[in-house]
Amino acid sequence: MIILECIGHEYFNEVSDIIKLFYGKTKISFHKNSDNNIQDTDLLLTSKIIFDENLSSFTSSYLNLNDGNNKEITYTYTKKNQIQDKKEIKIALKISMYKLLSDVTGKKIPWGILTGIRPVKIVHQLIDKGMNDDEILNYFQTQYYADRDRAQLAIDVAKVQRKYIKNNDKNKISFYIGIPFCPSRCNYCSFTSNSIVKNKDLVKPYIDSLILEIKEVSKYLISKGVKAQSIYIGGGTPTSIETGELEILLNCINEFWMDNEEFTCEAGRPDTISIDKLKALKEAGITRLSINPQTMDDSTLKRIGRKHNHSQIIEAFYLARSLDFNNINMDIIIGLPGEGLKEFENTIDCINKLNPENVTVHTLAIKRASIYNEIDFNNKQLHDNTAYKMMELARNNLEANGYYPYYLYRQKYMADNLENIGYCMKGKECIYNIQIMEEKQSIVAFGADAVTKVYFSEEDRLERQHNIKDLRLYIKNIDAQIDKKIRLLDELY
Ligand SMILES: C[S@@+](CC[C@H](N)C(=O)[O-])C[C@H]1O[C@@H](n2cnc3c(N)ncnc32)[C@H](O)[C@@H]1O
Ligand code: SF4
Repeated sequence: MIILECIGHEYFNEVSDIIKLFYGKTKISFHKNSDNNIQDTDLLLTSKIIFDENLSSFTSSYLNLNDGNNKEITYTYTKKNQIQDKKEIKIALKISMYKLLSDVTGKKIPWGILTGIRPVKIVHQLIDKGMNDDEILNYFQTQYYADRDRAQLAIDVAKVQRKYIKNNDKNKISFYIGIPFCPSRCNYCSFTSNSIVKNKDLVKPYIDSLILEIKEVSKYLISKGVKAQSIYIGGGTPTSIETGELEILLNCINEFWMDNEEFTCEAGRPDTISIDKLKALKEAGITRLSINPQTMDDSTLKRIGRKHNHSQIIEAFYLARSLDFNNINMDIIIGLPGEGLKEFENTIDCINKLNPENVTVHTLAIKRASIYNEIDFNNKQLHDNTAYKMMELARNNLEANGYYPYYLYRQKYMADNLENIGYCMKGKECIYNIQIMEEKQSIVAFGADAVTKVYFSEEDRLERQHNIKDLRLYIKNIDAQIDKKIRLLDELY
């Protein structure tokens, strides 16, 4: 356990975010908490502000209680004048702790002190302010202590995205439809996923409610002259429901939104894919499919709780190709337990051979709602630079094969503090992925736990409406959720 004492300020969470970059999920307690047992403590850290007449100083200190030498190490970051601005104070406190822990641990953190804010969003803001590439690179390095290559990656991604987010208008929006059922739960998963086997009886009432929600909200939007840009059916695993149920849902969507620029359906688990389901998807105008290996290693697939092997992935992929699906995405994850560079290289090689139009490279994140979090999973590889090497390997191999990065986002507790990167072949960027990440377009979302984001461009502001996560409660309260959504949309139209 780590004890953090804050002196002269109350920004415990902000400073903790920096500590987590170095120590992952180790528990951090506030010093004054009387429950703390000093016996369980490995590190004592202090974060202190002193304001002088013409100076602000931010001092961080480190005392390791296990190494026996009882030597405190400190670092002081100073700014001329007394800082009043809260945001500036938080940044200075973060820099101070970051510098101290970088020196003590010798660890390099690719994105520096950047936590919580999406790097590509920052690049868009800086481009809007008129900065050129060199100025943006310099900004990332001096303000956030980010690596130059990470900053360059964010710039490259932003440039690809510009044309998609600059022409947004409020009458063209995107849609998300959630199917929260899966054949089994993957150990790292934190999404709304219910066992399709245990919840068989809920599938029909769920689809009925979903259809009611889509119909009512779509009628409202059509009356306002709204058009669809992209539609994304995700989950869960949409293909875990029966073909007939899928057809009913697709027909309902097409009743309103047949005219669209991109229509994705996740078919994440190859064990849920059949020729009939793929035909139904093709017939309904699905233009983009996602078939997700995560890894091509059979023993890893078993270890992470996916009930399929690598041959099923390849079969599903070619089945889709045989039906002329010409925009297929494949998700993979870096840092899966038990995997080294050899297994990862094999996955990348197999994917390069299949040659899908999109490859999304994720970095394992230990999320609160996952099985890995419950069992207090501690994968050493999460912080020993293996993930970093895997990410480089993925980038080199995919770029050599004609892919380029087009979207990027980060989450908490990612292996080696990396990122998730979407790669695509020329012209095959997923519009939905760009819009959901950059948040410059309204996304209307249907289904349990779905989050609608309404974008008010004049104020550059988002308002959210959350649907209920629990399936039974979602079904029972469907009318109230429809009302809430329409009321929020009414503020925009
Ligand atoms: C929205 S999720 C779900 C997609 C689909 N249900 C599936 O699992 O095939 C999209 C992707 O995020 C990645 N992912 C999910 N949980 C993750 C985690 N804890 N760490 C890293 N990547 C994760 C997986 O590659 C997954 O395919
Ligand atoms: S298939 Fe996707 S949504 Fe389902 S449990 Fe696995 S990660 Fe979660």
